[in-house]
Amino acid sequence: MARIDFDKYEGFYARRTQGLRSSVMRDLMAITARPEIISLAGGLPNTESFPVKTLVKITHDVATEDSAAALQYGPTEGFEETKRNIARVMEAENTLVDTEDIIITTGGQQGIDLTTRTLVDPGDAVIAEAPTYPGAIPSFCSFQADVTQIPMDDDGIRTDLLKNELRRLEKAGRRPKFIYVIPNFHNPAGVSINLERRLELVALARERELIILEDNPYGQLRFEGEQLPTLYSLDDDDNVIYISTFSKIISPGIRLGWMVAPAPLLAKFNLGKQAADLCPSTLAQMVVNRYFRDFRWQDYVEKTTDVYHRRRDAMLAALKEYFPEEASWTRPRGGFYIWATLPGYLDTTDLLALAIEQESVAFVPGAGAYMDGSGANHMRLAFCAVPEERIEDGIKRLARVIKDQMALYKALKG
Ligand SMILES: Cc1ncc(COP(=O)(O)O)c(C=O)c1O
Repeated sequence: MARIDFDKYEGFYARRTQGLRSSVMRDLMAITARPEIISLAGGLPNTESFPVKTLVKITHDVATEDSAAALQYGPTEGFEETKRNIARVMEAENTLVDTEDIIITTGGQQGIDLTTRTLVDPGDAVIAEAPTYPGAIPSFCSFQADVTQIPMDDDGIRTDLLKNELRRLEKAGRRPKFIYVIPNFHNPAGVSINLERRLELVALARERELIILEDNPYGQLRFEGEQLPTLYSLDDDDNVIYISTFSKIISPGIRLGWMVAPAPLLAKFNLGKQAADLCPSTLAQMVVNRYFRDFRWQDYVEKTTDVYHRRRDAMLAALKEYFPEEASWTRPRGGFYIWATLPGYLDTTDLLALAIEQESVAFVPGAGAYMDGSGANHMRLAFCAVPEERIEDGIKRLARVIKDQMALYKALKG
């Protein structure tokens, strides 16, 4: 985007735009698209492995057999056939859903936006994990949510700390509008919530009448370990809103995701979606439905997960070999991301500038995953979008920058 020095529209903006914040991942996209950069920044699905012949066949068939319908408006909540296919995807995670409870969205991202826009007035409390999905932050900011982030460990959100926070809010006469969690292969932390904590979260929601927003784009991309039940499937009291997407199991370019929610909430989401964009793309839905009709969608998920698995292994091996021993990192059992922690005196935003300039390598600085700009000594390393050899090279280059900065700090501090 062009640089803005003077803004003559200053007096026209609504007050709520003052808190608008860009997602750090979006900001980095322009820089990391440069071919000389090894980008460990973008959580870009490996669209290169999607079979071209399959795309040619399904788009050709839709165009020749269903052209008029594909080019027309459709229902706000999406086509029944798309919802049936979504139910099949969720069933693969042992989650049974009634198609009446589904609304199709423009990616999972719109689900976060619709939830926040529907539930949050300025200053309302929302709880998220620390770190949280950097792309959720612009939604939280645009509706002026008062977000508290609860630390995580290798088993996901610390439910003990969550309870403390709920008690603190209760004392102040407040209750969070929702608790936002990413249960599987967290973006950016790489960890998953263990079974005990999933049960605890659902029980807490029941006891305290809370809403959980479960965002699960990565659940199908498992390399190892047992599949864990979704919070939605564990909940028997209508306290969970579930979001997922076709972005990671087919393609983000088709921009189709979905929400599953109890009827009253769904009706509000439908109104919000009408206001935002009328309906999901009919063309994209028909392409997806053709794909489900004529191909085994799980074949591609298996194939692409295999690629991510090898890339994760390459990144873990490179981290072990090249990163300083003062650093630590998570070991994801699926998904796209590793979350690395460096000594507290390093700031990964400064480090990013050096890494790009000196070594042509990029990552997402930790601060982008925190509402208050903390998390400066962390970094998100995405292994999804880079071939194994480049991953090793990228980590090696990054390690050089980190070690240089550590040496400099130690020299200055004696
Ligand atoms: C946790 C999480 N939620 C939501 C999204 C949004 O995905 P999309 O809008 O492409 O479905 C992403 C994308 O990376 C994500 O990681």
